[in-house]
Amino acid sequence: MGPKPGVLMLKMMMPYLRDSLESKFTLYPLWEQSDKEGYLAQNAQSIRGLVTWTGSTVDAELLNKLPKLEIVSAFSVGVDKVDLRKCKERGIAVTNTPDVLTDDCADLAIALLLSSMRQVCAADRYVRKGCWPKLGQYPLTYKMSGKRLGIVGLGRIGMAVAKRAEAFSCKISYFARSEKSGVPYKFYDTVLELANNSDMLVLTCALTKETTHIVGRKVLDALGPEGFLVNIARGPVVDEQELVKALIEGRLGGAGLDVFEKEPQVPQELWNMDNVVLLPHVGSGTWDTRRAMADLAVSNLEAHFAGKPLLTPCN
Ligand code: DGY
Repeated sequence: MGPKPGVLMLKMMMPYLRDSLESKFTLYPLWEQSDKEGYLAQNAQSIRGLVTWTGSTVDAELLNKLPKLEIVSAFSVGVDKVDLRKCKERGIAVTNTPDVLTDDCADLAIALLLSSMRQVCAADRYVRKGCWPKLGQYPLTYKMSGKRLGIVGLGRIGMAVAKRAEAFSCKISYFARSEKSGVPYKFYDTVLELANNSDMLVLTCALTKETTHIVGRKVLDALGPEGFLVNIARGPVVDEQELVKALIEGRLGGAGLDVFEKEPQVPQELWNMDNVVLLPHVGSGTWDTRRAMADLAVSNLEAHFAGKPLLTPCN
């Protein structure tokens, strides 16, 4: 047996993942280094694998510092922060962690719909302040059951949201790059048309050039003052400035947001809005799912270094 392959971990994502990597590979923990540039230069010849997540960018600049890199294993389903073109050019494999996080992300979309429409977080804050409404004095909210739900992106997560929404008797329609066969939901070929025919819009699509700012003023106005937007996809899918304006001006009923355009920045204007729920990008954030993601990220690396087929390649 030769030396263990060297794997660079960009950030401390989860001790379980770190331990697992350390037991199988020679781990290079970049976040622990004060001189990151020097550390990369010193170990560049030994680093053959890299583990990343949604909070780090794997761009050409980083890739150029790693001449021996063979595989990028993303601890996430989205790989929008990985320069896939450059990886392809260099023959670097890229893997992600689909499927194992589908349920959690879909669960969270429903939680965001319910909590923004029913203003669950605001009501909780109200009670914690020691308040209790006199009969009929508490602000009324919006019903979710039976409403028209539009889903942007009908991949694994979009489908899982749809399945859950069926239990709420929602009328489901969707926008995707193309119409899916065998799907019992109505297809619209633009997001604007979808929004025109929806009370709630849930974004589950990948971030690409085509989906950047796909939700702007027109789409928000189509949803209208009793319409709700939930974003569990990526912040830049929404034109955040337009979203903030629509909420301030009451042109949109409310929003449930797990992701933001410039994370970790969350627009301050939204902080005190009772009809808006703000989460710190935790779509997959349960013990069960994060462990499963870690196992998959590590298994992809193991498969690669053993010369076996990758479990979940994405390029
Ligand atoms: C991912 O894995 O890409 C999601 O953002 C999880 O929250």
